[in-house]
Amino acid sequence: MNFRSQLVAKPYFVAALALFLGQILFGLIAGFQYVDGTFLFPAIPFSVSRMVHTNLLIVWLLMAFMGAAYFIVPEEAQTELYSPRLALATFWVFLVAGALTILAYLLVPYSDLAAATGNAMLPTMGRGYLEQPLPTKVGIVLVALSLLFNISMTLFKGRRTSLNVILVGALWGLALLFLPAFYFPEDTVKASYGWWWVVHGWVEGDWELILSALLGFILIKMTGVDREIVEKWMYVIIAMTLISGIIGIGHHYYYIGAPEYWIWLGSVFSAIEPIPFIMLIVFSIRMLLKRRRENPNQAAMLWALGTPIVAFLGAGLWGAMITLAPVQYYAHGSNFTAAHGHLAFFGAYAMVSLAIISYAMPLLRGRVANGIAAQRWEMSGFWIMVISMLAIALALSGAGIVTAFSQRMGDHPLSFMDTQAQEQVFFWLRELAGVGFLAGLLAYLVSFFVPGEAGYDAAVKRALS
Ligand code: HEM
Ligand code: HEM
Ligand SMILES: [Fe+2]
Repeated sequence: MNFRSQLVAKPYFVAALALFLGQILFGLIAGFQYVDGTFLFPAIPFSVSRMVHTNLLIVWLLMAFMGAAYFIVPEEAQTELYSPRLALATFWVFLVAGALTILAYLLVPYSDLAAATGNAMLPTMGRGYLEQPLPTKVGIVLVALSLLFNISMTLFKGRRTSLNVILVGALWGLALLFLPAFYFPEDTVKASYGWWWVVHGWVEGDWELILSALLGFILIKMTGVDREIVEKWMYVIIAMTLISGIIGIGHHYYYIGAPEYWIWLGSVFSAIEPIPFIMLIVFSIRMLLKRRRENPNQAAMLWALGTPIVAFLGAGLWGAMITLAPVQYYAHGSNFTAAHGHLAFFGAYAMVSLAIISYAMPLLRGRVANGIAAQRWEMSGFWIMVISMLAIALALSGAGIVTAFSQRMGDHPLSFMDTQAQEQVFFWLRELAGVGFLAGLLAYLVSFFVPGEAGYDAAVKRALS
């Protein structure tokens, strides 16, 4: 860390972790409601716990991305952030607006919330992940504009590296791709188009560029490998992402009333979507092998290497298993999809966020790296979270397979509720693994409160100089 203004990243990272904890608590509530449908009813119905869980996910990831931008852009541009005060004010606006929205979900019936916030004037509410009331959606756009103004101005006045241009460009893409959230026509086919432009456009397009930029930054810093090499890899990975991901959106258009050619386009292009994820793994491992120095922050290195691997498993492998049209025909919207969604979101975007937090937080707190004991907590958190998430994905996959075979195939398919009853064992396993996940997250959080060993920082500094 070389610039004082990078410190504004800190509140973003702290808030991201707090909201992550909230996400997991509501995930556990939603998960328990799968095994006991009356749990917390009517105070927190499943529709609400699910919505709070997924919305907190999006909010904490955006917090982490913004923190990462405020940390990385000045460092890469070799200049102070254009306006640290604006960045800090934006943080509070986003946090308060996010908290009020979550409280409104919990305290006000959704239809009343829609009526009170002008949804009749411009309908945007009700679609998964995009449930936010109109004022919150407008707020998200304003917060994004403030971030973009701030980091673009920083970029203009400073050094323009490829990595920085890609990161700032991808954040512009993130904001632009949110705009279809305001397009919610009555025609359900057109509404689906708009919805997927946001959801798929983000996770299988634009956010992959953010993922590459964050990983590229961490790896340059930690390994000391020349940035020319990193940039070459990033260009190829980004090209593959866009080639496969843009038309690959067709894997959501198969049976929704869209033209039939999407069956072929969607299947073929989405089938090559795993390639950029494989390339990210090769890239990270090569960087590790070429490293010019041993970085004392082993925990951040573990996160940086784990990210592309789990991202590939969740997005590349679990995504590919359900992406071909004939498979979607039976698997669509089952818990197999949730297995994929969990492992992919966690592996790609949660893990890269934790990687940048593990890398940046010690620096933001004035240390070279966390002490040995703190890193041990961080790394235990890594393993417990990764293993628990794999277990969640396997349990949900089991449930999804039962749905496909028992409820959707054969001459005497089971009813929906009978199928759910057959899947109870998987829902229990998911909940158990979820408790494990919470334990892993708590271990990660504990690491922030473990004091450094006496003399450790000075010893590391001496070794590095
Ligand atoms: C990090 C990247 C990715 C993330 C975070 C992600 C996340 C998700 C999520 C959350 C859903 C469920 C959406 C819903 O609520 O209906 C979904 C659906 C889907 N994803 Fe991904 N995904 C990623 C990459 C991929 C890739 C690379 C593929 C293909 C190789 C893929 C194939 C699919 C398919 C076919 C569906 C639709 C499943 C259905 O409707 O049943 N995804 N994804
Ligand atoms: C304690 C761990 C967790 C539990 C018990 C849990 C539980 C759940 C439940 C019950 C749902 C609703 C599924 C449905 O509507 O059928 C859900 C949805 C979702 N969760 Fe989690 N979750 C956990 C952790 C996570 C994590 C760490 C992430 C991402 C980093 C995540 C991302 C999502 C997403 C994207 C959805 C929407 C999936 C879809 O629509 O297919 N969850 N979760
Ligand atoms: Fe997709």
